[in-house]
Amino acid sequence: MINYFTEEASVEAVNGRIGEAARPRLKVVMESLVQHLHAFVKDVHLTQEEWEIAIEFLTKTGQICSGERQEYILLSDVLGVSMLVDAINNRRPPGATENTVFGPFHVADAPVRANGDTICLDGKGESCLFEGRVLDLEGNPIAGACVDVWSDNAEGFYDVQQPDVQPKWNNRGRFMSEADGSYSFVGIKPVSYPIPDDGPVGKMLGALGRHPYRPAHMHFLVTAPGFQKLVTHTFVGGDTYLESDAVFGVKKSLIAPFERLEGDKTLWRSTYDFVLVPETFEGPF
Ligand code: BEZ
Ligand code: FE
Repeated sequence: MINYFTEEASVEAVNGRIGEAARPRLKVVMESLVQHLHAFVKDVHLTQEEWEIAIEFLTKTGQICSGERQEYILLSDVLGVSMLVDAINNRRPPGATENTVFGPFHVADAPVRANGDTICLDGKGESCLFEGRVLDLEGNPIAGACVDVWSDNAEGFYDVQQPDVQPKWNNRGRFMSEADGSYSFVGIKPVSYPIPDDGPVGKMLGALGRHPYRPAHMHFLVTAPGFQKLVTHTFVGGDTYLESDAVFGVKKSLIAPFERLEGDKTLWRSTYDFVLVPETFEGPF
């Protein structure tokens, strides 16, 4: 039977064209995408003008992308898709540290520094000692884990956003956990900042009455042989944007203590342990 396109049978008309050669997983994904996309268009009764606005939006989103800027990932972030993909693919047992969004500002191969060293190279901001341990699910220390960290500077910018202003590798570094699983480094108490909002995604947020801010956080990528990779942040409790993070990255378990110190080398201390899951771990969760 020929499936001519009709409003009622639109999904069947499109999905019916998928040929034998299509890989099974591609078929599953595309059939579902077409089904949901058509349902959405019918649900909102999309007008011709709205369709044109959508095409223009997607065109501009592509046009602003470059080697340094990925507006589509930003779009995925603000629509909650990045966090949903992350959640589905990183289900963890109780006690394990939760994942959150990776973000666009990680730079591979940051300098490996000794525990206790500073990552703040521009001398700005309120100094903060970050310390804790890397542990397995039973609470045993994991030695030799790589704790890769990055944050914005006191003015709310990552070094890669200001290559002519900030020293290279400002507020970044890699630290190897000690025999007792401990890590430590001196950074700054992070500050909240807006995600890049001068493009179509920022314009969309504005039109929706949404702000572009992320609550203050320190990024961590923790890896150790035999364990699942952990991509996460710790958040500063009390931040104005904790409940309205532009990219939905906040999880309660990731809000870390930030203690004000008196007469110490640093103004603040934040202690947080990371608990990794063995690579071979299979539910139930
Ligand atoms: C970040 O935390 O670095 C980030 C995450 C998602 C979008 C933009 C920035
Ligand atoms: Fe960030």
